[in-house]
Amino acid sequence: MNVYDGQRMTELLEAEGMTAVAEGESADLVVLNTCHIRERASEKVYSDIGRIVKRAGADKPLIAVAGCVAQAEGREISARAPAVDIVVGPQAYHRLPALVAEAAGGKRALDTDMPLVSKFDLLPARRRQGPSSFLTVQEGCDKFCTYCVVPYTRGAEVSRPWAAVIDEAKALVDAGACEITLLGQNVNAWTGEDEAGRMQGLDGLIRALDRLPGLARIRYMTSHPNDMTDGLIEAHRDVEKLMPFLHLPVQSGSDRILKAMNRSHDSESYARIIDKVRIARPDIAISGDFIVGFPGETDAEFEDTLKLVERIGYAQAFSFKYSPRPGTPAATMDDQVPPAVMDERLQRLQGALNRQQHAFNDTIFGRTISVLIERDGKKPGQRIGKSPWLQSIVLETDAPVGTLLDVTIVSSGPNSLNGVAAPQLERLYVA
Ligand code: 5AD
Ligand code: SF4
Repeated sequence: MNVYDGQRMTELLEAEGMTAVAEGESADLVVLNTCHIRERASEKVYSDIGRIVKRAGADKPLIAVAGCVAQAEGREISARAPAVDIVVGPQAYHRLPALVAEAAGGKRALDTDMPLVSKFDLLPARRRQGPSSFLTVQEGCDKFCTYCVVPYTRGAEVSRPWAAVIDEAKALVDAGACEITLLGQNVNAWTGEDEAGRMQGLDGLIRALDRLPGLARIRYMTSHPNDMTDGLIEAHRDVEKLMPFLHLPVQSGSDRILKAMNRSHDSESYARIIDKVRIARPDIAISGDFIVGFPGETDAEFEDTLKLVERIGYAQAFSFKYSPRPGTPAATMDDQVPPAVMDERLQRLQGALNRQQHAFNDTIFGRTISVLIERDGKKPGQRIGKSPWLQSIVLETDAPVGTLLDVTIVSSGPNSLNGVAAPQLERLYVA
């Protein structure tokens, strides 16, 4: 979502006549779009500010801190880092041009409001897209997991209206997108009325986008198990453009910990959802998020997480050490887990998840699959694309970026798979 917000801020500032410069070039304005989810992400902004100030010397650019650190820390940011001129929260970034003007006049500018009028209505139209685009359809969270800052930094769950989403999707396709990833902190909590006044869920939106000419692939992220409706599961069965990939965070395999996290699902109900999704779409790749070392997590409870991982079989996953966040209930819970224990648990979990990822990738070897070419690779003639299961595929081809190509997967690299464009393979074989 921060990538999406970053693009929208760039478009907004470009509409004001500004030009983006490459990283490392001197800029008049630097916008740091920040994440507050874990302490490490949050602290990074201060080291980044230090680096910018040092590099610029006497010619310091205007510095804006945007995103969730801005929302959470507000004025404290300028107290800790006086070089910061602008602080703007994630629901107020449509005001960036006005804040830049204030700051250019020598004032400190701050806006962390969560206005009732959506910022989306005030942003310029989308243009100039790569083949794969993000589209925020939902923001905020009402779930209040006890470890998480999102409900405080992004605010309550809000769905963008049907027509706004469809219009933005059309604009993205007109601007060159052939894949759209619908985004939201709880994207599957999206609801809205369609043009006929019927209430729809995310599945209705996906079925409408399925009818959009020029759009080849649809994805969505991130989902909550509680909002995984039967309708959405059926969309995985019916909508061919909906890619066979589901990112469904579970956080822990221990029911006691899930309860303490206020997750409102248990390991069994999570596993049942995955079973249903697999019946609907047997080749679906499952991805997840995990937290190790939540306060009070015992060895046996951590083992329950490993057991759940074995039961599900993940194609990929993200796993994190629990990070106490200011203002969240878990931060003041007893029995915080020592860092060394968290390190050991994270290593074991990531070992298991990596093995599963390799096993999943092995199932693709030798197969000819559809790859969306997204960008040039490092070497001349090389292109990088994505498989339906979100794997990065490296191949040599002169097919332009934005092409969907049949590719045979021949080997694996450290973070990607290597493929050969299918007609090329035929030629090799004949020779
Ligand atoms: N500590 C560690 N990980 C966290 N996440 C959210 N809050 C925390 C925290 N306090 C993780 C969850 C979530 C992902 C986006 O970040 O796994 O799904
Ligand atoms: Fe945070 Fe996700 Fe829980 Fe919401 S559902 S509180 S965003 S982890």
